[in-house]
Amino acid sequence: MAAAMALAAMWAQWAVAQEKKESDCIVCHRMVTPGVVKDWEAGKMSESLDCDVCHGEHTGPDDIDKLKMPSAKDCGMCHSDQAEQFGEGKHALAWAAMEAMPRTAHQPGPIIGGMKGCGGCHRMGKDGGKCDSCHTRHKFDPNEARQPLACNTCHMGFDHPQYEMWSTSKHGIIHQLEPTTGRAPTCQHCHMQKGNHRVMTSWGFLAVRLPEADEGWMADRAVILKGLGVLDPQGNPTARLDAVKAAKVARLTAEEWQAERDKMTDICRQCHSTRHVNEHLGAGDQLIREADRLMAEAIGTVAKLYDEKIIEPQPYQPFAYPDILNFYDARTPVEQTLYEMFMEHRMRTFQGAFHMNPDYQHWYGWAPMNKDLADIRAEAEQMRADRKAP
Ligand code: HEC
Ligand code: HEC
Ligand code: HEC
Ligand code: HEC
Ligand code: HEC
Ligand code: HEC
Ligand code: HEC
Ligand code: HEC
Repeated sequence: MAAAMALAAMWAQWAVAQEKKESDCIVCHRMVTPGVVKDWEAGKMSESLDCDVCHGEHTGPDDIDKLKMPSAKDCGMCHSDQAEQFGEGKHALAWAAMEAMPRTAHQPGPIIGGMKGCGGCHRMGKDGGKCDSCHTRHKFDPNEARQPLACNTCHMGFDHPQYEMWSTSKHGIIHQLEPTTGRAPTCQHCHMQKGNHRVMTSWGFLAVRLPEADEGWMADRAVILKGLGVLDPQGNPTARLDAVKAAKVARLTAEEWQAERDKMTDICRQCHSTRHVNEHLGAGDQLIREADRLMAEAIGTVAKLYDEKIIEPQPYQPFAYPDILNFYDARTPVEQTLYEMFMEHRMRTFQGAFHMNPDYQHWYGWAPMNKDLADIRAEAEQMRADRKAP
């Protein structure tokens, strides 16, 4: 009875398909992956295209290996503007930047290639780029992509909680109270103005720029660059600097930095006065300077433990110097604190400032940075005392 009903249902579907002249892909996949077909038909592309434009051809379960998965290059055949803009921005470099980290190759497979941890977010830049991160397959809906929630999955959490910061800032609150008036800016308003798919900011993720006019700041920056392994302990550039350049991890000329800042300032000035904007963005810059002062002292304190051979470098460390980019693979508690101070708390100190969120800036950023530094000083003293003890 059930089998006969299922057969009748399939027959009815086949009849509908004949009438609509549906492709074999659609007819079969309506049964095999009904959700995919439903999403696809909800989007505009289904009016003129079929599954094979992106995936190529196959006839059933036995020749799945003939299929391909599309990348930004494939989408770019028909959407050249978006693909070009995307290619010039930071998202296209997401896979390269992740791979440039010294310990990436040593993470368990599922975390990188299995798209569970790092790879799950940095997938955006894989194989020339993936376009289905904001307008998800197979609906490919621009309205979904216009929502800040489209950025949430990745721009959240430990070291880049922009969604949390924005959504609880005045900008985010007003947007949630008035989702359609455009009175307050969304992520896309500030970072994808006019639908431009090139995302790039002046400071970037690590907030290091070169050159630096302020001498005291430059001295602190040099210590940070040593801690990032971009300079060796003597201050000479290392091979890692090339990887940093290739993945545009730092802005390497004053003009490059200023160009992005000018664009952002113009966006704020759509709603605020020039004085207001310069004051707020300037305060964000100044907080990076203050955070770097604490950071340089912390790195210097741990570096001294290496000098005194209280900490011995791991075989994978090129220098007898702390390496913040080893992240949580750091072996000693004092280095774990150093990594959290940089990745979690220094980030929040300036990201919170730039996203108009006093709470993230202060209580989740600046305040814990000061605690980290106190802990690092105490841990260093303890390690010294432990070594001297008989
Ligand atoms: C006779 C049925 C049938 C037809 C016709 C068919 N497919 Fe499939 N397709 C399948 C089955 C079965 C699977 C495997 C589903 C699974 O693993 O659950 C599959 C899987 C896929 C996958 C996923 C592969 C992966 O690695 O995840 C894609 C993409 C796909 N088909 C695209 C197409 C396209 C494009 C066409 C038309 C050119 C098409 N299919 C025609 C039955 C069909
Ligand atoms: C505009 C391009 C495009 C078209 C057209 C398209 N897909 Fe896809 N499809 C994608 C993308 C992008 C992915 C994800 C690729 C990746 O993971 O790298 C994908 C992945 C898939 C997968 C595997 C992942 C999953 O969610 O199961 C299946 C199955 C699939 N497509 C089926 C179809 C079917 C059936 C059609 C036609 C109804 C279709 N696709 C049409 C772009 C497209
Ligand atoms: C063969 C050409 C072709 C390819 C390849 C293609 N598209 Fe499209 N796309 C179209 C057409 C045609 C439309 C409908 C344009 C319109 O009506 O404005 C469209 C519309 C869209 C829209 C807007 C839909 C809407 O509701 O307004 C998005 C988003 C989109 N495509 C994303 C993608 C992505 C992502 C890929 C790659 C995974 C892709 N497209 C690949 C031709 C293509
Ligand atoms: C939840 C998603 C997510 C996970 C998981 C994740 N990242 Fe990221 N990563 C991001 C986002 C988003 C940014 C950009 C943040 C910003 O600019 O504030 C980023 C930035 C970076 C950058 C800096 C890129 C640059 O050019 O400035 C590197 C390097 C990086 N991640 C490596 C990793 C590694 C290695 C892992 C795993 C150990 C990892 N990420 C895990 C989302 C993620
Ligand atoms: C970071 C998120 C994000 C990614 C990644 C992304 N898009 Fe978009 N896309 C958007 C947003 C936001 C819009 C709506 C822009 C607007 O307001 O007009 C959009 C709109 C579009 C449209 C519709 C344009 C229109 O005016 O109808 C197309 C086509 C499109 N994207 C293609 C692509 C392609 C191709 C890629 C990969 C190269 C891509 N997108 C990657 C966020 C994204
Ligand atoms: C009012 C405009 C505005 C809005 C809204 C906004 N941002 Fe930002 N964003 C900025 C400014 C300003 C900076 C710092 C630019 C610089 O480096 O000078 C920034 C920086 C960033 C960075 C680089 C690292 C950092 O945090 O400094 C990322 C990534 C980012 N924003 C993502 C987002 C996401 C995701 C959203 C939405 C959840 C969002 N932004 C909302 C203005 C905005
Ligand atoms: C699939 C995960 C993912 C999604 C979704 C996503 N991003 Fe990103 N974003 C990243 C990663 C990863 C990076 C770092 C790229 C790199 O390493 O080069 C990044 C970088 C950025 C940057 C550049 C920061 C810099 O270094 O200057 C901005 C701005 C940004 N994203 C904004 C957005 C906005 C706005 C949205 C939503 C419309 C969005 N992102 C959606 C993963 C994502
Ligand atoms: C689309 C309009 C719009 C844009 C663009 C915009 N803002 Fe706002 N902003 C608002 C509104 C509306 C408020 C809440 C009312 C108010 O305090 O002015 C606000 C509030 C603020 C506040 C909180 C002020 C307070 O007194 O608490 C700051 C700071 C701020 N914006 C800075 C910026 C900066 C910096 C930029 C650019 C990075 C920017 N805004 C972009 C509309 C905008």
